[in-house]
Amino acid sequence: MFPEYRPRRLRANPLLRSLTGETKISLDRLIMPVFIDENLTEPQEIPSLPSIFTQTLDSVDEYAKHLKKIGVNTVLLFGIPEKKDSEGSQSFADDGVIQRSIKSFRNNDLLVVTDLCMCEYTDHGHCGILRGKEVWNDKTLDYYGKIAVSQAEAGSNIIAPSGMMDGQVKKIRNELDGNGFENIPIMAYSAKYASSLYGPFRDAAKSTPSFGDRKTYQMDPANINEAMREIELDIEEGADIIMVKPSLFYMDVIREASTIFNRPLAAYGVSGEYNMIINAVKNGFISESAINEYVTSVFRAGADIFITYFAESLAEGMKGKI
Ligand code: PBG
Ligand code: ZN
Repeated sequence: MFPEYRPRRLRANPLLRSLTGETKISLDRLIMPVFIDENLTEPQEIPSLPSIFTQTLDSVDEYAKHLKKIGVNTVLLFGIPEKKDSEGSQSFADDGVIQRSIKSFRNNDLLVVTDLCMCEYTDHGHCGILRGKEVWNDKTLDYYGKIAVSQAEAGSNIIAPSGMMDGQVKKIRNELDGNGFENIPIMAYSAKYASSLYGPFRDAAKSTPSFGDRKTYQMDPANINEAMREIELDIEEGADIIMVKPSLFYMDVIREASTIFNRPLAAYGVSGEYNMIINAVKNGFISESAINEYVTSVFRAGADIFITYFAESLAEGMKGKI
């Protein structure tokens, strides 16, 4: 008989394809990023992130209920404070916007991951403390330690440092352990690139640096060996979950990391990825199934966890939301 083997046999109908499909999207493995802005009185759609609304301190409770109801389990929180200053003091204030929001999500039985960085809180928009025009690594670590403890005290389930300072995971691990939070895991933004895909996030978080760029701390998009060194370091320093960010232009990095390391691997489908896909879909240039294809591709590349602005609409079964 020719052809001897017929791969088309397993493609004959939807049930067969579903039975033998290699990669499945599960809501259990998606994380929804959420912005909470202390300056707002009404939730506001982010112009560069269509269908994503920045929440207010008053709206978070209802939003958390909604996410729980549709089946989103985990959120990644970003706060935008009313007052920014040179040391980002609202990032570790007991009554800071994140500290006050965590409860609403916890009360609604969601798992809360808190992004730990200073760029939303500093008046200069950089991810740490400045010394002249430079971000001062070791001084910044002292602040990251304080922020970690503050977030843990407020009830965060997982601390996710995203500032790309050297030694940040070790410093945060030590501070958490020293304050009775030895059971709080760290999800480390290990290989975070200085990407052009963060623009919509910076609109929402009002965190565009007032001068320069982030290339002295975030990674050069050309590098993959360096990404493996960054991840290795984070694991040595105590990272429980490692991350590659962005996802779409970095699928090779995701695959390599998933092959080499035996830690849960998260990928972050950043704001620019969401923007490109949602706008192409909304304009009718590509079909809506691109969203499933995109999310599937990240898991196929080797991610265990996917942080994506599509989490909410995927949970809603993509009914009418897009
Ligand atoms: C803060 C942070 C950023 C993102 C996540 N955490 C912005 C940046 O580094 O400028 C980007 C996420 C996105 O674009 O969706 N350090
Ligand atoms: Zn930052």
